[in-house]
Amino acid sequence: MEEIIELTQEPTAQTGELGITILNQWIRENYTEHPLTYIIKTWGCQMNERDSEIMAGVVEECGYTRVDREEEADLIVYNTCLIRENAEMKVFGNLGQLKALKKKNPKMRIALCGCMAQKEHIVEKLKKSYPHVDLVFGTHNIHELPVLLMDSYKVNRRQIHVLEDGVKTYQNLPSRRLYDFKGFVNIMFGCNNFCSYCVVPYTRGREQSRSKDEILAEVQEMADSGYQEITLLGQNVNSYGNDLDSSVVFADLLEEIAAIEGIKRIRFMTSHPKDISHHLIDIMAKYPTICNQLHLPVQAGSNRILKKMNRKYTKESYLEKLNYAKSVIPNLTISTDLIVGFPGETEADFQDTLSMVREAEYDFAFSYLYSPRAGTPAATDPDQVPDDVKHHRFDRLMETVNPIFLRKNEALVGKTLTVLVEGVSKNDSSILNGRTKGSKLIHFPGDPGLIGSIVRVNVKRAQTFILFGEVE
Ligand code: SAH
Ligand code: SF4
Ligand code: F3S
Repeated sequence: MEEIIELTQEPTAQTGELGITILNQWIRENYTEHPLTYIIKTWGCQMNERDSEIMAGVVEECGYTRVDREEEADLIVYNTCLIRENAEMKVFGNLGQLKALKKKNPKMRIALCGCMAQKEHIVEKLKKSYPHVDLVFGTHNIHELPVLLMDSYKVNRRQIHVLEDGVKTYQNLPSRRLYDFKGFVNIMFGCNNFCSYCVVPYTRGREQSRSKDEILAEVQEMADSGYQEITLLGQNVNSYGNDLDSSVVFADLLEEIAAIEGIKRIRFMTSHPKDISHHLIDIMAKYPTICNQLHLPVQAGSNRILKKMNRKYTKESYLEKLNYAKSVIPNLTISTDLIVGFPGETEADFQDTLSMVREAEYDFAFSYLYSPRAGTPAATDPDQVPDDVKHHRFDRLMETVNPIFLRKNEALVGKTLTVLVEGVSKNDSSILNGRTKGSKLIHFPGDPGLIGSIVRVNVKRAQTFILFGEVE
């Protein structure tokens, strides 16, 4: 994709921190009646959640105050996802509704960023049919938000700036983390794998690892301010370091992080099955702070389909690694991603997926209907599976996996597990929720003062997706 620039003036050099200072001053001089407010809505994966935390930190330093309702916001940022069609539809639906809000508050600014902004046809659609969207920027230049905003205020014209790829300079910007006891840490960006169904390599660019020192410093800072749990993020954490000069690999990084005092739980996602090594699994087994949880997306159980997906592993090699992990990590929780109805998938291929999930005995799975994505090879495959067949297979997949999840949860009844308390139940303020080290969601009665701490909970009852217990 060509770089799309539609600026009334060249983007100033004042990106990043400098941009923050200048916008902050400009706002103080020009918007004196009341403090400006903002809201950021996030779709998609943890990478987007983390980017939103950074943008929240940046706009707060610029002088904006967070609000919970779009009606009250002077700045609305939509951080978008393109992974499946329904993600895209939701964003366009929400955007349409903002038109009326903007009429009521003409100084309101609406920004769209994230993966949707990386696609030229979507930017064209925004230009043509969504004139109330003031700023469009991509996944490679979120640090330009202050500059684009200020230009938009000054000249009152739409600002669009999307880059095809870029060096991630924004990681050291301020951020406002969603929680003060658990948090995400990016270790790498982008993806080089080009699975034939997936849009991510086109929206996030090529793999780019952060330096080990930068990552360790961020984790240390989190440890110093009392964080209990960190989740390391990358589309394929197992290729961490491949693009760095040093010979560091993901397992080394993990070991160094495990040595940081204070962090009690370390998680990571996602591991690509083609690259996960026995060495990494051994490191997981060695350190008690590395959680007994492995998310290993299999996508399909048929070797023919895996090949068409460009996944570069077979059912057999996948199961070998999974079984090794199960054998060396006690009480390992395993989860996966599954796609049904990939182009060319026959009933026999689908049966292979069913036998795969039975054999793997997953604790949890994210299952998706295949969604054709413009620009990916699978989208133009003439062998698309009809919608009704996809849905029927999806329903049968649910009927197969759900009893497995229930059985795995029921096996925990009677056990006492450590739980990081994350919040209060939406429906009942006397009930807390949290996660076990194996990442199982558990509800139990307790005092909200426990949020952010690790407690021991005895499991009393199990459902398909949730455990119930009592603090010991
Ligand atoms: N990097 C991760 C996956 C990130 S996307 C990995 O490879 O493991 C998360 C999940 O979305 C994928 O694992 C896949 O199951 C699903 N997904 C991606 N593209 C899709 C599409 N076009 N249709 C349906 N599901 C898709
Ligand atoms: Fe998409 Fe494959 Fe990359 Fe995962 S590894 S983000 S599924 S291309
Ligand atoms: Fe969606 Fe982009 Fe993540 S497409 S899943 S937000 S990398």
